[in-house]
Amino acid sequence: MRVILLFSSLFISSAAFASNADEARQTIKAFSSDLKQVLVSTMKQSGPLAAISVCNTAAPAIASQHSNSPWQISRSALKTRSSDNQPDAWLKNVLLNFEQRKLNGEPVASIEYQEQRPDGWYFVKAIPTQKACLACHGSQIDPTVSKKIATLYPNDQATDFKLGDIRGAFVVKRASENHQ
Ligand code: HEC
Repeated sequence: MRVILLFSSLFISSAAFASNADEARQTIKAFSSDLKQVLVSTMKQSGPLAAISVCNTAAPAIASQHSNSPWQISRSALKTRSSDNQPDAWLKNVLLNFEQRKLNGEPVASIEYQEQRPDGWYFVKAIPTQKACLACHGSQIDPTVSKKIATLYPNDQATDFKLGDIRGAFVVKRASENHQ
């Protein structure tokens, strides 16, 4: 009887895990496509200099639009542009592990990780560096763009990325009931 109970609760929690992961993936998809749409259209219409403000103000705003309690979405990286996006020790480890998985041959687009932690359930998904990112995160950034980035982000580390590198990660957190 005990064993059955244990098994059934395991089943329930793994089912809950799967649907959380689906919801997290959907949130990431919606956030990243909204962000990319605004970014690409601003780049086309007004160039990268104007698009910096999209990342500067619109990215956090769009992130909060897609965050409905108890869900929160954010972005982080090992090399960050904004110090506000710096990973904590736990997340840093997850991101280092992502680099290892990439080295082992796993495609960046499918690298993800989930874990139940005391304050909530976390889902982390790697973000590949695409062509559209290089104007602001690559190694040949227009000097006027670099200058504006340096003014806004004096601690910028998010340059010299190459196509296919892991630029960073989306982090979705589903806060535990007592931590909302
Ligand atoms: C027009 C310039 C520009 C382009 C193009 C751009 N970014 Fe950024 N990116 C920024 C700025 C500015 C920030 C800092 C945003 C903030 O203050 O949260 C940033 C931050 C980030 C972050 C959060 C972690 C950090 O470094 O602070 C990630 C992840 C990221 N960008 C990924 C991408 C990806 C992926 C692309 C391509 C699809 C891209 N960026 C294209 C300017 C840009």
